[in-house]
Amino acid sequence: MKPWPWPLWIAHRGGGSSAPENTLAAIRCGAAAGFRMVEFDVMLSRDGVPVLIHDETLERTTDGRGQVCAHDSAALRALDAGSRHGPGFAGERIPTLDEALDLLLALDLDANIEIKPARGFERETAEQVALRVAGRWPVGRRPPLLSSFDSCALEQARRTAPHLPRGLLFEQVPADWRERMARHEAVSLHCDHRRLDESCLHGIVAAGVPLLCYTVNDAARAAGLIAAGVSGLFTDRLELPR
Ligand code: G3P
Ligand code: MG
Repeated sequence: MKPWPWPLWIAHRGGGSSAPENTLAAIRCGAAAGFRMVEFDVMLSRDGVPVLIHDETLERTTDGRGQVCAHDSAALRALDAGSRHGPGFAGERIPTLDEALDLLLALDLDANIEIKPARGFERETAEQVALRVAGRWPVGRRPPLLSSFDSCALEQARRTAPHLPRGLLFEQVPADWRERMARHEAVSLHCDHRRLDESCLHGIVAAGVPLLCYTVNDAARAAGLIAAGVSGLFTDRLELPR
């Protein structure tokens, strides 16, 4: 069995709860806290540009209103994605995937890029993400790990850039996870640790499948999962002992 090459600890949405989620400030914050890998979510703007954002709507994290996919990238760029987190981040923008990739390379960070398509844009989103990563990421450097809750998106990522590694993302691991891993030629399985029972955890680890758990914000729970053999932990708490 090959050792899992990515870091164990992953800063969720760039910088966890220490910075506005899915921003360049968040990625810098994750790196400054010593994380060597970050996770972020990517969705398409109306004009087909992949940008970092979690929700399909703008209200929770920005000063905009309405659907992300109803706005062109220039309009998204004009929004403030920092002030909701705190005044110190006022003026922080919704980054494009290209900007985030450049920052990852500059900071020498690994990444898990979660393809987060708006409903109805699953294949387009995955295609654009895979094309941008394949086009920008240097050959010979460990590539970002792509993941998605959406199986159509993962299938499209495989078609567009088969060489980019893929992780299957679930809330609760389904009974047929082995078949799904094989069908998607996935390298890892990601799930919500709160919905992971012990027998499922041990079955996945015993099968030699890298298991990544989100979002683990408790030190004792993290220690238990590490002892059980998980390969990755997404956290919002950058200050947790690692
Ligand atoms: O990819 C792990 C985790 O980010 C999935 O949940 O909702 O935080 O994107 P969510
Ligand atoms: Mg995510």
